[in-house]
Amino acid sequence: STSLGTNGPLFGRTALVTAGPTHEPIDPVRYLANRSSGKQGFAIAEALAKLGAEVTMIAGPVALATPADVKRIDVQTALEMARAVDAALPADIAILSAAVADWRVDAADQKIKKNGGTAPGLKLVENPDILATLAKSDHRPTLLIGFAAETEKIIEHAQAKLARKGCDWIVANDVSGDVMGGDRNTIHLVTTQGVEAWPTATKAEVAARLANRIADALH
Ligand code: CTP
Ligand code: CA
Repeated sequence: STSLGTNGPLFGRTALVTAGPTHEPIDPVRYLANRSSGKQGFAIAEALAKLGAEVTMIAGPVALATPADVKRIDVQTALEMARAVDAALPADIAILSAAVADWRVDAADQKIKKNGGTAPGLKLVENPDILATLAKSDHRPTLLIGFAAETEKIIEHAQAKLARKGCDWIVANDVSGDVMGGDRNTIHLVTTQGVEAWPTATKAEVAARLANRIADALH
């Protein structure tokens, strides 16, 4: 479908989207990562832009084309993503779909060498929670939406995250199948009002439905 531009229901609104994984360096040649493809987040950025929103997308390392009319900022690590989110504020709408690494590594300055059969220990440090920080900030977006990728007890975990992080909605994502990297998605929309089970659809269809829901909510 084409962009509605100035006629779109989100014209005049700003939106911030995070997407993809983060990479946390172990040493100059190695990193910790996760299986996030970024596809759902990129589709959401595209869908919001099509409804006329001014979209800034902060993307972790993924090989995906930038959607039309989306301003893209590339980052590698969770700390870089946190700083980029901060710098992109204020925004009316924020959708934090990125699979932010929960931990970074106290990285070595030089390539770690094998050492006679003794494996190195990695010292992990917890990353800041970008979503929870945004929920408490002076620039809290009017509509703040988080994601929850779960492999079990999806709704229970999503409701706990909604309360713990102080966001308005959680898009709960069942990642027990082949969702990571695939083109389809099964989600539940969890809000303080209740839980909606959405039918399995393409990531583009899920994104379009979510963008329309956002436009309705802001009206
Ligand atoms: N999130 C974030 N910053 C982090 C971790 C997560 O902003 N350091 C955001 C994600 O982008 C997502 C939401 O928080 O919108 C939930 O992420 P998730 O990994 O499901 O939650 P966690 O609190 O990290 O809990 P878990 O132990 O289940 O990973
Ligand atoms: Ca996590």
